[in-house]
Amino acid sequence: EKGGYEHFMLKEMYEQPKTVRDTLSPRIKDGKIEIEELGMTDEEIRAINRIHIVACGSAYHTGVTAKYVFEGMARIPVEVDLASEFRYRNPILDENDLVIIISQSGETADSLAALREAKSQEIKTLGIVNVIGSSIAREADKVMYTWAGPEIAVATTKAYSAQLIAQYLLAIKFAAARGRITDQEVEEYLGDLKKLPDQIELLLSNQTKIQKFANRYIAAKDVFFIGRGIDYAISMEGSLKLKEISYVHSEAYAAGELKHGTISLIEDGTLVVAVATQEDLYKKTVSNMVEVKTRGAFVMAVTNEGNIDIEKAADYVIYIPLTNKYFTNSLAIIPLQLFGYYVSVGKGCDVDKPRNLAKSVTVE
Ligand code: M6R
Repeated sequence: EKGGYEHFMLKEMYEQPKTVRDTLSPRIKDGKIEIEELGMTDEEIRAINRIHIVACGSAYHTGVTAKYVFEGMARIPVEVDLASEFRYRNPILDENDLVIIISQSGETADSLAALREAKSQEIKTLGIVNVIGSSIAREADKVMYTWAGPEIAVATTKAYSAQLIAQYLLAIKFAAARGRITDQEVEEYLGDLKKLPDQIELLLSNQTKIQKFANRYIAAKDVFFIGRGIDYAISMEGSLKLKEISYVHSEAYAAGELKHGTISLIEDGTLVVAVATQEDLYKKTVSNMVEVKTRGAFVMAVTNEGNIDIEKAADYVIYIPLTNKYFTNSLAIIPLQLFGYYVSVGKGCDVDKPRNLAKSVTVE
């Protein structure tokens, strides 16, 4: 049951520190990452030529993030596909490729079909799945479970967080096996990962502040989420969280792409949520914030602690605690989940069971 929370979604958001801990800790032994269920030797990991990440919805968004992490840390080329596209595009797969299918339910029809497509070409498959014994878990060559426990709310939160963690662990493991990072770097990454649960807890404690802010946007017509790199991936998830439960139209845009069309939609008072956690892209995103602000947008920014100069370009700022640049999604998504949740609550929507949606999409 809801354990005293008003909605399953709220309860599940609050379970995220535990979920992150549960997905991490069984796989860290003596300062090293051990993913037994992967069943791959270092030699086999070194032989991987390319990774294909295939999923739907929020699971796909974790894959978009993971592409930056795998490529940045391990220098393995990654393609990320929506399962509904992958299965029909006659994908070019090579025997040294690894196909990773990500799914909370393990029953999503398109993701299952994508898995079968990869298997029919005899390509190695790995499922990152939450529901034990589900179809994708049963059919994938290997399964890495996300230990999030049952997720009831249609809008995913804790399973999303666990999927990110699983992929960070794989990326670190692959980078180490391929000699791209030193033991000391592994230790540093693990140190940062271990801090995430407490940092998430801290961000969750901001809920009243975010609720007040969200109440100002219950009548919003359009909201735009912008960011670059991993911040773009976070924007995609922030936008989906808002629209699926509150029915407010929202879109995520790569910040540098705004000028190529979307900026014409900015009017006086339009809310633009800018995510700026990637220090190397920070200045670029801030200049995009200024561009929309001068055209009348109200800018809410999510950035790293310490970036106070952002207040010149934003009307409202949420700071996230410091972590490694690859892991910021795990923190920046928390205020965005809370924002979507409170807009939905403010509008009196059915938060846990939004119209027209099902928890697990078993039709094509
Ligand atoms: O069970 P799955 O992870 O395969 O589900 C994928 C999507 O249907 C799911 O993430 C959906 O987008 C959620 N409603 C997002 O909150």
